[in-house]
Amino acid sequence: MGKRGRRFTRLRAIAHGGQVVVSQATHDLVLDRLPSGVALSDLGVHHLRDLGRPEHVFGLSHPDLPSDFGPLRSLDDLPNNLPSELTSFVGRADELAQIGELLGRVRLLTLTGAGGCGKTRLALQAAADALDAHPAGVWWVELSRLEDPALLPATMIGALNLHELPGWEPFDTLVEHLRQRAALVVFDNCEHLLAACAELADALLHSCPSLTILATSRAPLGVHGETAWRVPSMSLPAEAGHEPIETLARSDAVRLFTDRAIQVRANFTLTATYQAPLAPPSPLPPPPSPSTAAACSKGSRIRSRPPATTR
Ligand SMILES: Nc1ncnc2c1ncn2[C@@H]1O[C@H](COP(=O)(O)OP(=O)(O)OP(=O)(O)O)[C@@H](O)[C@H]1O
Ligand SMILES: [Mg+2]
Repeated sequence: MGKRGRRFTRLRAIAHGGQVVVSQATHDLVLDRLPSGVALSDLGVHHLRDLGRPEHVFGLSHPDLPSDFGPLRSLDDLPNNLPSELTSFVGRADELAQIGELLGRVRLLTLTGAGGCGKTRLALQAAADALDAHPAGVWWVELSRLEDPALLPATMIGALNLHELPGWEPFDTLVEHLRQRAALVVFDNCEHLLAACAELADALLHSCPSLTILATSRAPLGVHGETAWRVPSMSLPAEAGHEPIETLARSDAVRLFTDRAIQVRANFTLTATYQAPLAPPSPLPPPPSPSTAAACSKGSRIRSRPPATTR
């Protein structure tokens, strides 16, 4: 699905069943040629669940169509504190589907993987997609800048927009709020606070039966009942060096590269010139057999090479 298709899907996700909504672009195109009885009403500017730029949304009405809908189900009207993103989210459709499925059946899911592999970005999109399933909201607790593990509960209270109750421990305030609520809390970037995150997650999950926690961390939290899910590298065709550039352009990794390149140079187009730099290096040849090595060592020095890594 292309960028426009994904935006369309996100627009449709904020509408109610039977409701017809259109974007500003569509509104401008059709306004002067609406069939009789059809009208477009301004429903305001809304943040869609791709967490990108907001969209001005219009509702289509006709006397024969239902018209009694509640507020649009956009990020603005659902309980959450998910941060907006300046860059568009790219690909990861399979990963999002798997994470969405896991969030429906496990209570502590940790996205793990090397620094920069996309854990935070994936968790953010998965959290936005999980809004409908968590009526008490989706709450983002950003931990990368938190140094003192003792401040973790208070940081979470701030993220959930709660107030510490006088005379109460921060943990008890959290439990009081979350005990009966179907909420999703995301602990983002836990790796430097593993023990504190593990302890808080474990205690909250025991005290709040409808709570789900999604964590991102370079290493699992190590809590009993945790599902650790390793974030794979973005997809790239196995034979990237030999594929037509059109095939390469459809892979997530190259789409992200192209997206970012266009931000830097608006007229950037992906051509075959980029094939070699984009293709991963060919695997190293197998090491020579001892007899070949012995033969070669007479005339040349054989250097040992590190094994090829796939990620
Ligand atoms: N699917 C994606 N679409 C768009 N941008 C992405 C995507 N995945 C990763 N990025 C970008 O790549 C960069 C690194 O991603 P991210 O911060 O999610 O990695 P991380 O695994 O959380 O890293 P760390 O371990 O350092 O926290 C960010 O700038 C992020 O916006
Ligand atoms: Mg991260």
